[in-house]
Amino acid sequence: LWTPANIVDDAIARVREQVGGDKVLLGLSGGVDSSVVAALLHRAIGDQLTCVFVDNGLLRKQEGDQVMDMFARNMGVRVIRVDAEALFLGKLRGESDPEAKRKIIGNTFIEIFDDEAGKIQDVKWLAQGTIYPDVIESAGGKTGKAHVIKSHHNVGGLPDDMALELVEPLRELFKDEVRQIGLELGLPRDMVFRHPFPGPGLGVRILGEVKKEYADLLRDADAIFIEELRRTGWYDKTSQAFAVFLPVKSVGVVGDGRRYEYVIAIRAVQTVDFMTARWAHLPYELLETVSNRIINEISGVSRVTYDISGKPPATIEWE
Ligand code: XMP
Repeated sequence: LWTPANIVDDAIARVREQVGGDKVLLGLSGGVDSSVVAALLHRAIGDQLTCVFVDNGLLRKQEGDQVMDMFARNMGVRVIRVDAEALFLGKLRGESDPEAKRKIIGNTFIEIFDDEAGKIQDVKWLAQGTIYPDVIESAGGKTGKAHVIKSHHNVGGLPDDMALELVEPLRELFKDEVRQIGLELGLPRDMVFRHPFPGPGLGVRILGEVKKEYADLLRDADAIFIEELRRTGWYDKTSQAFAVFLPVKSVGVVGDGRRYEYVIAIRAVQTVDFMTARWAHLPYELLETVSNRIINEISGVSRVTYDISGKPPATIEWE
């Protein structure tokens, strides 16, 4: 019988056979796939696994701490956290082209990952959260994290004596199977059913040039939106939902003052395959609460808009 428990047992046996007593390195993003790989490998090979988690300053609110709490503190996984916000933001300074920003973020990630990998002695394997759809789609399109690390591996930035072989225990699985396995391994439901988050993170949700001030505002707005979606049961009824920072200013009145501040767009979509998507018909009351909270609680925002564009013709992300 093909149950999540069987898939886990089988994957553990295969990983043990594949890597033996060797050390394995994993880039942990906090997303579902790499998290499930971390939990699986930790169960299979314990301390032979070292994860590298790069905080690029473009993560969601408190995401870095959550990843460390769950994996390092609760599960005892060996995780190296690299706080690289300043490095990423420095390299992004002055750049406003979406694809150029993606490239900078991807390359900086690889640079840091290589650096950290080089500090660990005798690593033989690089684990990746590649899942079956990644295998099929790997020909083109916007890059997912699998591609980023894959190019890292192929580029061979690592020292020659560290040519790593790949361990990809989810390679034959679909997303829903990966989620089942995550639950089976004891990962919390909230994390296993999390919406997807792009590799470049808030870097492509801050239109144009990325600045720390913008990222901080966006993180707060996004957290409010997500909190309200969860509170009203809409999080699980949408496939992806997030806030976008628009670097334009708009006039508003708050209390006795007039203010001239930034605009936040919120977006929520429903989709099966992310190739086409419908904007979620969220209740007006929910939109109203989100808008009021964002404007009242975040001093740098004067206006909130809801994105009612379908895909196609619009994409899900704004950049
Ligand atoms: P679009 O915007 O192309 O998004 O309709 C479709 C899905 O892909 C995600 N996405 C990305 N994921 N790196 C990623 O890892 C990227 O550069 C990237 N761009 C878009 C997007 O969040 C959505 O789930």
